[in-house]
Amino acid sequence: MIYRRPADLDFALADCPRQERPGKVLLTTPDYFDVEYAINPHMEDQIGTVDKSEALRQWQAVRETYDALGLDVHTADGAAGLPDMTFCANQTLPYLDPQEGRRGVVLSRMRAEERREEVPYFAGFFSERGYDVRELSDQVDGSFEGMGDALWHPGRRLLWGGHGFRTAPAVHDALSEMLGVPVMLLELADEDFYHLDTCLCPLDEQTALVSPGAFSDNGNALIRQLFDNTIEVPAIEARESFACNAHCPDGEHVLIQRGCDVTIEQLEAGGFTPVELDTSEFLKAGGSVFCMKLMFW
Ligand code: ARG
Repeated sequence: MIYRRPADLDFALADCPRQERPGKVLLTTPDYFDVEYAINPHMEDQIGTVDKSEALRQWQAVRETYDALGLDVHTADGAAGLPDMTFCANQTLPYLDPQEGRRGVVLSRMRAEERREEVPYFAGFFSERGYDVRELSDQVDGSFEGMGDALWHPGRRLLWGGHGFRTAPAVHDALSEMLGVPVMLLELADEDFYHLDTCLCPLDEQTALVSPGAFSDNGNALIRQLFDNTIEVPAIEARESFACNAHCPDGEHVLIQRGCDVTIEQLEAGGFTPVELDTSEFLKAGGSVFCMKLMFW
């Protein structure tokens, strides 16, 4: 089932089965990371400007942070000719099947031709490790960019789905059916916020970071209906510093781009522990912490 506005809801969050947080995190080495083309507005003036050694240092600091927080960190190697592959939130959507406890991923269909060859590497990574690797049916039209546009509600079997730039609404119908979960569908209309993970960041079962300007009235109302606490991020921090592309792996720590001062203050006031990281080289490609990793079970 797909839900677009609060009036559509025929259940409460507490009715959704509980789902443990994923404990594994996948990172993909940035050896070939660069801005070589522009498929989102953030990339437009950045072609050829990436400092590779600085990018590697920033990526290593992200990896060390996850290690220090006790997550089970896995790494895959980036591939030559695929400069965006390090953004490994986008090629799959991991899931945990509650009936049989099976773990799997749904493969993406990247919208941009330049990124399509990334997907088979992740299909290989997961199939080698015994995961179910599933494709969307041929009957379903349109592109899908994994956890860029499909976010699990922390602790519950419920998905937040973005559409408008990279993922087609029909894909969310298909995911809802395949995984047996309700999908809260949010339309994106501002190109700077081309993926849902650039404007909505679920932190724990009750709390999310939101950039309200990225959503319609229905979308904002739906978010407020299911999260008791929404922390509104200033537009400039969301747009320029990717404050909503943060990540809370454990309900406590929030990994976030350095310098999002208003957001950081609000996180602290809400009882979270911000961990500031510098992802400035990756911001040039239109990504920060959230899309530099993939959480899986
Ligand atoms: N350059 C990449 C793209 O435009 C960045 C992806 C960042 N990922 C994200 N989930 N926001 O596809």
